[in-house]
Amino acid sequence: MEQSPENLFSQIAQDNLVLNVFKHHSFRVMYLSTMLAKEVECYDEDMRISALLHDIGKMGLSSEILLKPSRLTDLEMTIVESHSHIGNTIVRKVLGKTRPAKFVRDHHENWDGTGYPRRLEGEEISLQGRIIRICDSFDTMTYDRRVYHKNNLSHQEAIHELRRCKWKQYDGDLVETFISLIEKNNLPEDWYDQYNKEALEEM
Ligand SMILES: [Fe+2]
Ligand SMILES: [Fe+2]
Repeated sequence: MEQSPENLFSQIAQDNLVLNVFKHHSFRVMYLSTMLAKEVECYDEDMRISALLHDIGKMGLSSEILLKPSRLTDLEMTIVESHSHIGNTIVRKVLGKTRPAKFVRDHHENWDGTGYPRRLEGEEISLQGRIIRICDSFDTMTYDRRVYHKNNLSHQEAIHELRRCKWKQYDGDLVETFISLIEKNNLPEDWYDQYNKEALEEM
């Protein structure tokens, strides 16, 4: 079977709930990352693939761990955090693409060196990894919290949170560029439901 980034989700997912939750999260992160990457002039196919597949390493895990509403144990946390490495391996070995694999590996690194898996700091982290980091957090705060039985934050609340954590978790300049795009485009709170989801998946 021809390997396309899009069909990896259903090939790897352990159940339909995981497939459904993470496929839509991934498409939203791809859309937001595309917007930010175009603005800072680093958009290309590797950027698109890495944003789409940033969490592909989670797809082989069980929904009991991935969607657990309560706090994860240390062991469960270790398993979940391995998704940066697993995603890197999948993109490199299954798709044969080393450059986007590196961006996948970087998407949980923090600007201040407290992230994982390699505790990279600042510009040691690929620009694409820093872009996904911000868009991933924004999506989790505004769209995905209900999966974990929490209320979603409004865009304004999420923007406040991004600003609070800039130069700690996030590249502060990229945070400001991202916020200015959200505001300039007047992104509706339920933007993904308003768009034709299938059209987005074809992007
Ligand atoms: Fe992730
Ligand atoms: Fe994610």
